[in-house]
Amino acid sequence: MGPDGWTIAIDGPAGSGKSTVAKALARRLGYLYIDSGAMYRCVTLAALRRGVDFGDPEALAAVARSCDMRLEPVPAGLKVFLDGEEVENLLRTPDISRRTSAYTANSRGVREALVVRQREWGARGGVVMEGRDIGTVVFPGADLKVYFDVAVEERTRRRVLDYASRGIERTPEEVRADIERRDAEDKGRPVGALVRAPDAVLVRGDGKDVETILAEILGLLPAGGPGSR
Ligand code: DC
Repeated sequence: MGPDGWTIAIDGPAGSGKSTVAKALARRLGYLYIDSGAMYRCVTLAALRRGVDFGDPEALAAVARSCDMRLEPVPAGLKVFLDGEEVENLLRTPDISRRTSAYTANSRGVREALVVRQREWGARGGVVMEGRDIGTVVFPGADLKVYFDVAVEERTRRRVLDYASRGIERTPEEVRADIERRDAEDKGRPVGALVRAPDAVLVRGDGKDVETILAEILGLLPAGGPGSR
């Protein structure tokens, strides 16, 4: 436990709804919420804007090291700024998802640069950080590690609805194929792969509402009462 409270790592595959759960948990505890996936996506956006060659991992790493990325916690979650511009709603397009998974997240240099920032943000504890490698690489000593999983059918349904709510029309078949490809990429990455840490607790979200999942996770917290920022 750091001076500001516990460090909570939540890892799991794409489209599981873990952001919603992690955000709600952070709000409940009064903790900082960090979406590490948004950081990888932000590097992709910065690289697109700079016209970088996505086949060049070192060029992507240079972008990660030099881009002006700022995260600002707000009651509803997190705002992401790139070069002073709020970009959160530009980060969740199919193109950014695909490039991030296939290129940005595979660059060792990108990962090294982002892990440094993630550790800085989490240095005082009092943080809920979600991603793929938080419990394994970023905070191997986290006070609580959750591996959050949901069946691919349910993840597909959620993602189709999420896209539709943002005016992006995609068929369930396309979305499922995307999710399966991303699972394979996430799990097969040479660095920072999605894997359940031996000491991570498996929490399944299938068919459960956020409150139920939240109660399950709160019940896993070490005794002694939550610290608060
Ligand atoms: O959680 P997300 O779907 O927004 O993540 C975007 C991409 O970044 C996804 O392809 C996996 C990758 N990622 C990663 O490699 N490591 C993390 N800690 C978080 C995300």
